[in-house]
Amino acid sequence: MPATKTLAEMCTELPLDVAVALHADFYKDSQWLAVEQEQVFAKTWQLAAHAGDLRHTGDHVVCQIANKPILIVRHQDGQLRAFYNVCKHRAGPIATCKGSAAKSLQCAYHGWTYSLDGQLRSATEMQGAQQFDVGTIRLNDVRVHEWNGLVFVALSSDVPAFDEVYAGIAERIVPHDLSTMRFAKRDSYELACNWKVYVDNFLEGYHLPYVHPGLSKVLDYRVYDTELFAWYSLQHSPLRNNEGIYGDGHAYYYFVYPNVMLNITPGRLQTNRIIPLGHERCVVEFDYYYTDDPEVQARAASEQAFSDEIQAEDIAICEQVQRGLASGVYEAGRLNPKRESGVWHFHNLLRRAYAQQK
Ligand code: FES
Ligand SMILES: [Fe+2]
Repeated sequence: MPATKTLAEMCTELPLDVAVALHADFYKDSQWLAVEQEQVFAKTWQLAAHAGDLRHTGDHVVCQIANKPILIVRHQDGQLRAFYNVCKHRAGPIATCKGSAAKSLQCAYHGWTYSLDGQLRSATEMQGAQQFDVGTIRLNDVRVHEWNGLVFVALSSDVPAFDEVYAGIAERIVPHDLSTMRFAKRDSYELACNWKVYVDNFLEGYHLPYVHPGLSKVLDYRVYDTELFAWYSLQHSPLRNNEGIYGDGHAYYYFVYPNVMLNITPGRLQTNRIIPLGHERCVVEFDYYYTDDPEVQARAASEQAFSDEIQAEDIAICEQVQRGLASGVYEAGRLNPKRESGVWHFHNLLRRAYAQQK
């Protein structure tokens, strides 16, 4: 059996050419998920919605971010507002599902009503309550940011500025322009593995020839490259021989720490959001966005079917890796400096987060 390592040892960052993967304990022990919710998910910008659901005043969506209920609404001033979806009366939900054109936000439990900026306006049948002033009661605010039709929230004030995290992406992918793409469809996949297994797998093309023989023909593995930035990594490759599935051009695969992926091919954005359901389960949401270009629209169905095939291959290997990590005979293996720099980058960001825990 492997010897037990201290947290400090498991969080030590090593240069890439001598680096090892993140220790198996982080993938198989349930205690780490609570630490991750606090130190990773609550301290980063989280993809929460798309602006297509929040076009007009009063349009709103609800979501769970770092396991907390969140409500996002379009205010009369045209800007988005986000709050904890937790009523100040007895913690009921202000909204239970998405909705449109609300004039105010009325709690689903006893009907207390808030304005679109989170201020309590009226409290049903509370006339007899002494020392009760609606003017002093408001929902807890959450930071919200809109970027190219995607909506992000950050629960903590201890999160880098959004523009710092996403710096350079829009400029790099020109002539692709994410702001011209509209939401088309969501596919969700539930996996029997720790959320980080899925992220690790996304972060390297090393497995392409073995796990995805079909995709290997489309991407040019010889020039498949990984670049590292402060908060994200980019894998990219020219597209070839893809029989019209993606069109001609370049594929960009961005991973933004800790759980957002932006997969960009000509005229198309596919976002992935990886959400832990437990320490050995996660859900992966694929949202598809397209430009109005008829050529792009015409290839959407075959591209989604191809993506579904690749996902089935990734799910199978990820679930097997989880069993391997949990087997008790694996601790942390060496990383390939040429092919796994993205994994190394992700693991180091996580090590810094784990080291923060009290
Ligand atoms: S919990 Fe919201 S009105 Fe009672
Ligand atoms: Fe894969």
